[in-house]
Amino acid sequence: MQSVGGLSRDKGPRLFSLPDLAYSCNVKTLLLPASADSIRLACELLQQDECVAFPTETVYGLGALGLRPAAVAKIFQAKGRPSTDPLILHLPSTDLRQAVSLGILKNPLPPMAEQLAAAFWPGPLTLVLPRGPSVPHQVTAGLETVAVRYPSHPVARQLLTALNTPLAGPSANRFGRISPTDASAVLSELDGKIPLILDGGPCLSGIESTVLSLVHSAPTLLRPGMISPQELSQILGDVPSSAPTNDPKKAQPAPGMLPSHYAPSTPLYLCDQPIENFPTSNQYLLFTTRATSLPPHARLLAPSNQPEESARNLYRMLRTMDQLQPKAILVDPIPDSPLAPALRDRLSRASRGTARWHEGQWIFSLK
Ligand code: TXA
Ligand code: MG
Repeated sequence: MQSVGGLSRDKGPRLFSLPDLAYSCNVKTLLLPASADSIRLACELLQQDECVAFPTETVYGLGALGLRPAAVAKIFQAKGRPSTDPLILHLPSTDLRQAVSLGILKNPLPPMAEQLAAAFWPGPLTLVLPRGPSVPHQVTAGLETVAVRYPSHPVARQLLTALNTPLAGPSANRFGRISPTDASAVLSELDGKIPLILDGGPCLSGIESTVLSLVHSAPTLLRPGMISPQELSQILGDVPSSAPTNDPKKAQPAPGMLPSHYAPSTPLYLCDQPIENFPTSNQYLLFTTRATSLPPHARLLAPSNQPEESARNLYRMLRTMDQLQPKAILVDPIPDSPLAPALRDRLSRASRGTARWHEGQWIFSLK
């Protein structure tokens, strides 16, 4: 009997034999509800250096054993992601000192790292910290820092507990595209490229974690996300400063900060006034209700007017509108809220420019 991921192989059904999986050719992608059996299968595949998509509270991740270069390489291959883009490691516990003792992080931990982990983990905060010697250069794109987080989704946690080693996990989409927030969206992105998707239902948060770097003298916000700047300031004492957007021609310390990312195939434009004109050639994404009833090709992002609902629905609605292949997707101005920095960040990277209504038609300006 062989032990895999802390679980014995003779328990539960074997769904197919591992040697049959030829990674580089068109593999059959299984989509299975997350259960003890499918999590066991996921562990077996991961131990064989395969990639498995799994749910987190933010978006679905594309997991591979994060300390094994051969496994990590398959993430880049499946996503079509440039090797200059570093990956997040999902840790098997909240214990940063244990991560130091395992060579994942370097001693000493920066000030505030443990306080932030205690305050926000399990949850959608990613900390960029000095890299330990066990982390392959493929994970960090050669940087001497590594991004780590401990997710709160129960399926992600069961997987990490069973594996007891970090899982590298970018969002489970092809590079540059919209992150998937349910298992069917992962299938539409990566069908035929990975052997297994664990279906844990729709993601509750809907946009990616906040990425905070602690490697410089002051904490720096690399990517706004589900933990708002105000929440961070309660622990840090100050709102962290934001990093400038990357130059796309240079090495990327933070790939999510490329000016174009998270993009649908349909051109998306941001409007500076609430949208009042709805020609049928386009799809419309609205943040605020209108006095009159909406046409079917206009959608309200958050019917209950809660920012959390906007975040939860954003990628799902963009994906639905994209599939309808309109001429353009037009988006209302984003109202102020604690999640506005994250929503504005994603929508501005998804956009090709701005749109304004002028003399009976929409005029588009490229950025
Ligand atoms: O919510 C999330 O964070 C999701 C789920 C699956 O955990 N993951 C995710 O991964 O969004 P990805 O690869 O799509 O985005 C990785 C982000 C980049 O935008 C970058 O800002 C940051 O992680 N990152 C990774 N390693 C870094 C490093 N060494 N230094 C700076 N930023 C890093
Ligand atoms: Mg991503």
